Amino acid sequence: MVTRIERPGAQEWVPEGAGVEQLREAAASCRGCELWEPATQVVFSAGSPGARVALVGEQPGDQEDRRGVPFVGPAGRLLQRAVDEAGLDRGGVYVTNAVKHFRFEQRSPGARRIHKSPDLAHITACRPWLAAELAQVDPEVVVCLGATAAKALMPKDFRVTRDRGRPYRITTSRGEKTFLGTIHPSAVLRVPEEGRQDAYDALVADLRVVVEALG
Ligand code: URA
Ligand code: SF4
Repeated sequence: MVTRIERPGAQEWVPEGAGVEQLREAAASCRGCELWEPATQVVFSAGSPGARVALVGEQPGDQEDRRGVPFVGPAGRLLQRAVDEAGLDRGGVYVTNAVKHFRFEQRSPGARRIHKSPDLAHITACRPWLAAELAQVDPEVVVCLGATAAKALMPKDFRVTRDRGRPYRITTSRGEKTFLGTIHPSAVLRVPEEGRQDAYDALVADLRVVVEALG
């Protein structure tokens, strides 16, 4: 028999009309799904709440979970380099994740924590935070880094490999905005050595589309 875990979703923890800082504070007590319990802390967002661009990742990794800040590990360093190379102004970027707690597996206590992708149920449970912060920041362009963020924000039939780098105009609570999906920086790091530079260049090329969309 499959046991269904009750996941009420984050909505009841999201204060209405709250700014980004209030949302960050409130997210610390979210119990919208079971991921909060084994994690160290919630990892909300970083960057300017007045940003014109939002970058949405999957979920915090091991280092992000320990430090409470998104994209501070290896994937974050690669992303930062790509952002700079594409000519996106660092100060004009807001960075967050589709899921705000680190999901992992651990073989034994004290063993290395192995990243585990969030299920659709976690993405759905956590989405009220993403919706609330994006409504507050109100970026002109939202970039989905990888399939998890795309599941949260892009049309249902969106596929990263097929549809990446293509701007979509999507109607939001703040009017029509540009959304674009691309590869996740962690996926670039997983590409075998001989193809990694090409994968990185393709990420930079997609981020240049964002720069163009900003005009
Ligand atoms: N990968 C993500 O998707 N987000 C982070 O914050 C770090 C790694
Ligand atoms: Fe709440 Fe999201 Fe954490 Fe689940 S992952 S407990 S919905 S903040």
